[in-house]
Amino acid sequence: MSTPGAKPITDEEGPLFRLLRHVDVAPHASQREISSAIGVSLGRLNAQLRAAAEAGFITISERSGPDRRQRFAYSLTSRGAAEKARLTDRFLARKFLEYQALHAELTGTASGYVPSTNRTRFMQNNLAPIPELFVSYDSAQKLKVEAGELTSHDLTPRQICDLELLMNGGFYPLKGFLGEEDYDGVVDNMRMADGTLWPMPITLDVKEDFADKIEIGQDIALRDQEGVILATMTVTDKWAPNKSKEAEKVFGADDDAHPAVNYLHNHAGKIYLGGPVTGIQQPVHYDFRARRDTPNELRAYFRKLGWRKVVAFQTRNPLHRAHQELTFRAARESQANLLIHPVVGMTKPGDVDHFTRVRCYEAVLDKYPASTTSMSLLPLAMRMAGPREAVWHGLIRKNFGVTHFIVGRDHAGPGKNSAGEDFYGPYDAQELFKAHEEEMGIEMVPFKHMVYVEERAQYEPADEIADKDSVNILNISGTELRRRLQEGLEIPEWFSFPEVVAELRRTKPPRSKQGFTVFFTGFSGSGKSTIANALMTKLMEMGGRPVTLLDGDIVRKNLSSELGFSKEHRDLNIRRIGYVASEITKNGGIAICAPIAPYAATRRAVREDIEQFGAFIEVHVATTIEECERRDRKGLYKLAREGKIKEFTGISDPYDVPANPELRVETEGTDVDNCAHQVILKLESMGLIAGH
Ligand code: PPS
Repeated sequence: MSTPGAKPITDEEGPLFRLLRHVDVAPHASQREISSAIGVSLGRLNAQLRAAAEAGFITISERSGPDRRQRFAYSLTSRGAAEKARLTDRFLARKFLEYQALHAELTGTASGYVPSTNRTRFMQNNLAPIPELFVSYDSAQKLKVEAGELTSHDLTPRQICDLELLMNGGFYPLKGFLGEEDYDGVVDNMRMADGTLWPMPITLDVKEDFADKIEIGQDIALRDQEGVILATMTVTDKWAPNKSKEAEKVFGADDDAHPAVNYLHNHAGKIYLGGPVTGIQQPVHYDFRARRDTPNELRAYFRKLGWRKVVAFQTRNPLHRAHQELTFRAARESQANLLIHPVVGMTKPGDVDHFTRVRCYEAVLDKYPASTTSMSLLPLAMRMAGPREAVWHGLIRKNFGVTHFIVGRDHAGPGKNSAGEDFYGPYDAQELFKAHEEEMGIEMVPFKHMVYVEERAQYEPADEIADKDSVNILNISGTELRRRLQEGLEIPEWFSFPEVVAELRRTKPPRSKQGFTVFFTGFSGSGKSTIANALMTKLMEMGGRPVTLLDGDIVRKNLSSELGFSKEHRDLNIRRIGYVASEITKNGGIAICAPIAPYAATRRAVREDIEQFGAFIEVHVATTIEECERRDRKGLYKLAREGKIKEFTGISDPYDVPANPELRVETEGTDVDNCAHQVILKLESMGLIAGH
């Protein structure tokens, strides 16, 4: 069987090929290094070097340095480079022949694989493969077993995102978590110790007690949250960073209102470890697997489709019509194909979750021409660092094979600082990007602020509307959109696509369809359970959402049967109730809780757990202790007075009266039905139940 293309390399050409290849990749190597790398004696190497120089393939120049072994430097001439390319083609041709033969032997058929004849020709920079930090599959299997013995660090969700992009080349040229010298350079002037531009400190923060166990030079295993070993790291640096300085320099202010500064001070460990990473496996993702690509996968995709110019759109929000218009324009202006490249790692706290967003993107993707537009998900942990973040995003996109990058107004902005002002100017990000554009090797496409012109029924860049005083310009801000979604109000078709709005409404239904928790608190015998029962019946009569009653007695029987009434046990009991109620709320149900819950701090903690998912309505059943004791429906107050029940709330144990409950009900002189009705009215006024 014959292979098209160049002839295989001959035995005589082999040594020359190896020599030229080595001189090309390591021009400063000593003779001893070259001879051992290409496997010839020093004497023979000398003869080869002379012959190559005489043939005009290399030049030999003297080096002035103290090391006698490195007296000469060798470099390829253009003739040598051409000869090397010719020999490389022939070398590959032999490899293909071997491959064909092996394939035929194994399968009895020809592989049909036709080698390209121009493999060694210049491959466009953004399309050539990029180095990754993974070892081969076989080595990974071995390394995984060996790494089981190492001290391990359990990665935080943010570190897992960082590690994934380190390993797959997304953070190229980084070879691991930053060491101290690189960190200092990156923090001070966005450059690593060797001068490479890199704006964001990628650091492995750990707790002090873990750092105390680690010595410089030690290998550690990096595990995900299930304990799977993803990589090993050789620790070359260990130091306590100056976090306030990092905050000032990287994020522009040492202010906890900035999400990354808050993370730095309140979540990140005190010590940083740095060192090169050896990748074993990618973090496992179970969601949207087909939509996730590594830099090399995207590069291969662009190569396959012949996309030489690609403009990327970074986003952490759902796409609406204005975004579509601006991405169309960006692609048209830069004459490039379009990559929608949304972040699905970590974004700004409070953002729409990535599951919902990806469903929205998929809906919008249908509205783009499939042959010119693609979408891929980026597992990046954003820092919301505005200008520095824009440069970082650009470098990352370049690694993904992108040639143009859209930078908007207030790119990756963190919102307001604690004085209520913006952290960065609206165009700081564009300016910093522009200043480094050439060095970065990726072109910026500045984002236009698109607004809707009613008369012309189309989106136009706000700064290009000549007749802006005589036309009606429409715009809906993010805050206004959230309000409309929350209250179930109309979202006009000119603003977004019905499919996107439907997805958003599915995740964030109006309050009258969301779950919530009513949390009664008060003394034993205050009437909590009775009112809670009445409320449950009224809500069930209305229908629409499942209702669960977590009464004090029911919980103590089913969830907390082993607990007593010490402070510790009461806290545990209330936290369990809070957990169950938060799950019910998250899943769109109504939880009614009715424990004594005597401690304000515990009630606050439960409120925080629940408010992430829906409303929390604290109802203080304000029956006085005297009245409860007078009623003494269970005879417990008598026993408590006699000292037969210890730590009895209100008698021998404290009760913190709620300072700001959503509702306080007085039961003395008011019947149960009326008390429950007061709660219903409150729920109605909060928009949690639709009015009748
Ligand atoms: S707590 O403090 O919220 O964990 O209490 P809770 O789970 O609501 O349980 C209160 C019911 O337990 C009975 N009981 C006591 N209450 C207070 N203090 C002591 N020492 C105590 N021992 C038993 C009492 O019947 C409470 O029921 P309710 O329904 O509140 O009257």
